[in-house]
Amino acid sequence: MKKSSIVIAGGGSTFTPGIVMMLLDHLKRFPIRQIKFYDNDAQRQETIAKACAIVLRERAPEIEFSYTTDPQEAFTDIDFVMAHIRVGKYAMREKDEKIPMKYGVLGQETCGPGGIAYGMRSIGPIIEIIDYMEKYSPNAWMLNYSNPAAIVAEATRRIRPQSKIINICDMPVGIEERMAEILSLPNGRKDMDITYYGLNHFGWWTAIHDKQGNDLMPQIKAHVAKHGYIVNPDNHAETEASWNDTYAKAKDVYAIDPDTLPNTYLKYYLFPDYVFAHDNKNPDHTRANEVMEHRERNVFAAANDIINKNTAKDCAFHSDEHASYIIDLAEAITFNTNAKMLLIVKNDSAISNFDPTAMVEIPCIVNKNGYQKISIGEIPQFQKGLMEQQVSVEKLVVDAWINGSYQKLWQAISLSKTVPSVSVAKNILDDLIEANKDYWPILK
Ligand code: NAD
Ligand code: G6P
Ligand code: MN
Repeated sequence: MKKSSIVIAGGGSTFTPGIVMMLLDHLKRFPIRQIKFYDNDAQRQETIAKACAIVLRERAPEIEFSYTTDPQEAFTDIDFVMAHIRVGKYAMREKDEKIPMKYGVLGQETCGPGGIAYGMRSIGPIIEIIDYMEKYSPNAWMLNYSNPAAIVAEATRRIRPQSKIINICDMPVGIEERMAEILSLPNGRKDMDITYYGLNHFGWWTAIHDKQGNDLMPQIKAHVAKHGYIVNPDNHAETEASWNDTYAKAKDVYAIDPDTLPNTYLKYYLFPDYVFAHDNKNPDHTRANEVMEHRERNVFAAANDIINKNTAKDCAFHSDEHASYIIDLAEAITFNTNAKMLLIVKNDSAISNFDPTAMVEIPCIVNKNGYQKISIGEIPQFQKGLMEQQVSVEKLVVDAWINGSYQKLWQAISLSKTVPSVSVAKNILDDLIEANKDYWPILK
């Protein structure tokens, strides 16, 4: 069996240990000969890397491991780049969330003005990583889950149209796991055959069947109409209150179109007034603060503990099983499995009544030649209208980045369904420019 060589770009990420533990759990179906970490923050990466080196030494000494900030070292001799960088780190996420709130607009890392600001930061560094990959390992694939995936996907389509990059998101996976729990399916979400379409963080399930072809939608809908995607809390002790709010709000998101089941992220576009009022009760403490106080603190404490004890026995790193969709993807490409997966890809004619150049999230069949899109056909007016507005926001952001255009970015923010007026958009934009001056191109 082929053994793959992987570089994790964003080696210092809070998700890196969970991904490494998960990779170790799946070595039988996706064997690995080498893991490398790459980051542009040597110090942050070193803590995570030293701890992971101990984990690998104890659990899989046959895997070669190294970490570096040098692109040539990182990207030479690899089959996959697994990319999860956060350009500007949590300090900038906090600004993305807090600046719009000063002007009465919700603050979210990937939706609305916050996501637009993050997109403007991410495009350049993602292109840089693609270029390193193509220079040092021209046959490799980049599996990208760095956010904001919608804007990153549109940018790579425009700027590097021939590159071997696949953009993917874990939110549908997470929601499907909850659906499987509602249905008590023995093998979880893999017992379901689904149809879904939309943009990233902006989509709907239209059909869900079991492997015998029985319709599972009615039972899931009955649950979502009452509880949203809240399932037995005993199985989700680690889920924080803010995420529980989002899963619960899916009940109201569902109500506007009971023909489909919604992605949780639609709450930001369909209930922006509610989200703002709710979050504005504590505007100095947003999700970025929560993540810094919990996930970041816990992951780095666990890493330091492993380093100090020089062993990972009984360590607090745990496998992020949820992230095994990344293995499904790498396995499908390496071993030609023809797995059906939701990917963020160019529409062409998959959604027949939608912009062929849009980057849409739809089911695809993945194999060693890449992916084939599954045709969706026509979508209803409600979804089409929402998606046309949102995809225009995403395209205008990329226009603004490529052309250094203030006007295009002002239009992008104004067009977001989360923003009430052009004047509010301008105020937010002017603050975001100031906050992002180390990261954005100069806008004229
Ligand atoms: P984090 O800040 O802990 O980690 C990101 C790492 O990227 C940091 O170590 C940082 O130094 C590094 N980095 C930043 N710019 C870089 C560059 N130009 N080159 C190399 N490295 C760079 O963030 P996190 O919360 O762990 O999230 C990481 C990323 O994964 C984010 O983009 C997040 O949105 C994304 N994510 C995506 C999904 C999904 O479903 N698509 C799920 C979870 C997380
Ligand atoms: C989901 C989304 C990701 C996003 C994450 C944020 O998993 O699919 O795209 O990065 O949520 O989670 P956080 O815990 O960082 O707020
Ligand atoms: Mn996502």
